[in-house]
Amino acid sequence: MSSVNRGWVLVAHPRGDNFDEILKLQVLPMPEPAPDQMLVRSLYLSLDPANRGWMMMPTYIPQVPVGTTMWGFVLGRVERSNVPGFAPGDLVSGFGAWADYCLMGTDMTNKVPDLGGLPLYAAQSLFGLSGGTAYVGVLDVARAKAGEVFVVSGAAGSVGSLAGQIAKLQGCTVIGIAGSPEKCAWLTDELGFDHAVDYQREDVGARLGALFPNGVDIYFDNVGGPLTNTVASHMALRGRIVLCGSMAKFDNPGPELDLGSILLNRVTVQGFILIDHFDRLEAANAALAGWAATGRLQHKADIVDGLENTVGAFRKLFTPGATHMGKLLVRIDPSAN
Ligand SMILES: NC(=O)c1ccc[n+]([C@@H]2O[C@H](COP(=O)([O-])OP(=O)(O)OC[C@H]3O[C@@H](n4cnc5c(N)ncnc54)[C@H](OP(=O)(O)O)[C@@H]3O)[C@@H](O)[C@H]2O)c1
Repeated sequence: MSSVNRGWVLVAHPRGDNFDEILKLQVLPMPEPAPDQMLVRSLYLSLDPANRGWMMMPTYIPQVPVGTTMWGFVLGRVERSNVPGFAPGDLVSGFGAWADYCLMGTDMTNKVPDLGGLPLYAAQSLFGLSGGTAYVGVLDVARAKAGEVFVVSGAAGSVGSLAGQIAKLQGCTVIGIAGSPEKCAWLTDELGFDHAVDYQREDVGARLGALFPNGVDIYFDNVGGPLTNTVASHMALRGRIVLCGSMAKFDNPGPELDLGSILLNRVTVQGFILIDHFDRLEAANAALAGWAATGRLQHKADIVDGLENTVGAFRKLFTPGATHMGKLLVRIDPSAN
């Protein structure tokens, strides 16, 4: 075990996207686990749009305080454990920190399921937060059924790429909205989406109207912002909008949802947060593993090496049309595969 622990410390709350000013990589003391905690060596760090929200304001967790090592979802190996059932050497995935070493409790931490020969990063690109959100969002919240028209935004991102494939497995007609020709080609040519719309280069409303004159049954909204109203004005009678994320609003507060079209089409709008559905993760992981093992579900990770490159990579999440596809990860331990 190395004796050096580096971590990204939040030195101020953000103003816009000034991440370089507010996050500083520092050498930190080795954390000491409390009686209900374990010390975890970080292998991979999951970069999530929600991390930005956690810095900005209280959400479903408190705002990250200034002077704290930035919080994040970490895949790591237990070094020392004061938690019954967790032993040194165990692989865990859970709520930790942007650091070489972090502390985890049992809240929001799980042992990594049997990966069945998949690479280690599948614990974050397929299982856990991304896969769990896609699974719960499509099956429990949207209740997608065969024959329905399913539109997903952020479609080449980690949640969107899985959500679209899961909807396709239910027998839906699936349309992904993404920000580059390469991403759109990946969705249709490799993931099996029926259509892809490049929102940076095409008129999304015109494409949806031409493809589906009877409207969209389900909109899985990963981004919020202006796209929400565009798709909302093309909903079918009694359609459902599932609000999964609103990352577009960080940079552009934009218009609120136009309730007129929601009313006229009797559309149901429902937000959800995965933390309310952790009891579904076991079922989600089993289903995801089965689909992946039989080649019916693909997952991809874009891996950036080095804890020191975290902030540069994090910026990509908020750059529409940035090149990453699937799950954006930082490999902290170079020997992790
Ligand atoms: N509700 C929950 O429990 C839960 C759990 C996990 C994640 N989420 C949310 O789900 C969403 C997706 O997360 P993720 O992990 O899949 O992120 P991700 O991998 O970064 O994918 C999101 C994609 O959205 C696109 N995007 C970024 N800004 C956009 C904008 N202004 N307009 C349109 N598209 C934009 C980007 O690709 P292109 O622009 O290049 O297409 C980006 O890659 C986020 O909002 C996240 O906060 C919610």
